[in-house]
Amino acid sequence: MNTVLLLVDIDGTLLRVDRKVTRQVWSNAWEEVVGGSVPWERLDTAAGKTDFQILSQLLGSSKVAWEIRQQFFDALAKHGEYLIEPSAITLYTEALEFLRFARDYGMHLAVLSGNERRCGWHKLRAVELEGYFTTGFFGCDAVERLLIPARALQWAQQYLGRSRDHITAVVVGDTPNDVIAARVHGLRSIAVATGPYSYEKLLEFRPTECVRHLGEGAVSLRRIVTTSVMERRLIIAIDGPAGSGKTTTARLLAERLGYTYIDTGAMYRALTLAALEQQIPLTNDALAALAERVRIELRNEGGSQRTYLDGRDVTERIRQPDVTALVSQVSSYPSVRDAMVRIQQQLGQHGGIVMDGRDIGTAVFPDADVKVFMTADLDVRAQRRLAELHQSNPTLTFEQVKQQLQQRDMLDSTRQYNPLRKAEDALVVDTTALTIDEQVESILRFIRHRLMMSNSPTLSDARHN
Ligand code: DC
Repeated sequence: MNTVLLLVDIDGTLLRVDRKVTRQVWSNAWEEVVGGSVPWERLDTAAGKTDFQILSQLLGSSKVAWEIRQQFFDALAKHGEYLIEPSAITLYTEALEFLRFARDYGMHLAVLSGNERRCGWHKLRAVELEGYFTTGFFGCDAVERLLIPARALQWAQQYLGRSRDHITAVVVGDTPNDVIAARVHGLRSIAVATGPYSYEKLLEFRPTECVRHLGEGAVSLRRIVTTSVMERRLIIAIDGPAGSGKTTTARLLAERLGYTYIDTGAMYRALTLAALEQQIPLTNDALAALAERVRIELRNEGGSQRTYLDGRDVTERIRQPDVTALVSQVSSYPSVRDAMVRIQQQLGQHGGIVMDGRDIGTAVFPDADVKVFMTADLDVRAQRRLAELHQSNPTLTFEQVKQQLQQRDMLDSTRQYNPLRKAEDALVVDTTALTIDEQVESILRFIRHRLMMSNSPTLSDARHN
C-alpha cells in the first residue's frame, strides 16, 4: 500500500487574502528594504509564482543578491504577521472539509506554496489550518517553483522512510504552475478553480483531476489514489559543441530535478576506447560488429555517473587525448550511431532524464518535451577545456586546445549522418557570459514556459507502474 503525500497550495486553493492587505505588506517591505514604491507594472501576475520569483521580477533581474533576498523576506514576514489578520482572510469551507477527509484517510499533508515560509504558516495559523500539515515547502527555498516538489519528495523518502515507488504524491493547487510542477516530477494533480483561473482554463493544462471547488476534491482524490496510472516525467535533450557547458549544466539540472543524467558522449568515447584497444579498423562494418560485441554501461554511483566498458570502469580513461582525438571519427559511422541511439532511446524511454550530446533533440528524441542547444564563443570554450585538461596535461597550450575543438566541431557538424545540429524548437543558451546557476535557471524557466504553452500529446503519455 502506497503512502499518500498531499502537497497543498495555500492562496487561491485553501483561502483568499484581501488583495489590498497583501499589497500593503509588499509595499511596506519594499519601502523598508529597496526604498520607494513597488513597481507593480513590472509584474504580469503573482498567481502561481514563488515570492522569490515575484521579487526578482519586480526588481527587474533574476540576479537578486542573497542579502537583499533575506532582508526582504524578513521584512515580508514581519509585516505579514502584523497586517494579515484573520479578518483579511477568507477560508474556503470546502477546503476545510477536503483537508479533514485527507487526514482521516491517513494521508500525509504538506504545504507546497510559493509563499515566503513564515508568511505561509502565518496565514494557515490565522484560520486554524496549521495543524493539518506535517511540514511545508515554500517559495523562499527554491528559485523556481518547478523545483519545490523535488524537495518534498526528498523529504518524504527521508522522513516517511518510503522509497519513491511507494509514495503517491498529489499536488493540489489553483494555477497552471501547480499542474506543471506536478507533471515535471511525474506527480498527479488536482487543479481547483477557486483562484484566478477558470475551470475551463485549468483543464487545458490537463491536470489529473480538475474541480470547481474542493468540495468535489474528495471524490477526485479517492479516484487518484486508487488508480495506478502515473504521468511520465519529461525527456530533456541538451545538445551543443564541446566546451559549451552542456555537461555541467545537464548534470546540475538533473540533480535539482531529481532526474537521471545521461552523458551520451561518454558512450561514444567508450566505444572509441574499445576500438583503440582492440585495434579495430575504422570501417562501418568492423565498428558495427564491435558495437554489437561490447557492453557499455552508464552507472550512477554516489551521485556521479561512471562509464563501464565490459564491466571495467573507464570513466577517467575515456577523457585521455588518444580517445578525444579519435572519437569524432568513430562516431561519424552510421552503424555506430544506430547502435548508440538504440541504447539511448531505451535508457530514456520512461522519461525523467536529462540527456546531453550532439543529436539528442534531432535524432535520439526528436519528440523530447524540452530541447536546449548550448553554445559559447570558441575562445571561451577553449579556455574552459584548457582549464579542465591542465592538471593531467600541463604542457598543453591554448592554441592547441582551440585547434582540437575547431577540428571536432567541424567533424561533428559536417558528418552526413545525424550531425551536430540545433533542433528547430530548441532553446539556444549562449553560455559565453553566464554562470552555471544562470544556465540552469534559464533552462528551468524555459521548461515552465514550454509546458505552459504546450499541448503536446507526448506530455500526457501515461505509464502504468
Ligand atoms: O561530449 P563529448 O565531448 O564527450 O563527446 C565526444 C564525442 O562524441 C563528440 O566529439 C562527438 C561524439 N558524440 C556524438 O557524435 N553524438 C553524441 N550524442 C554525443 C557525442
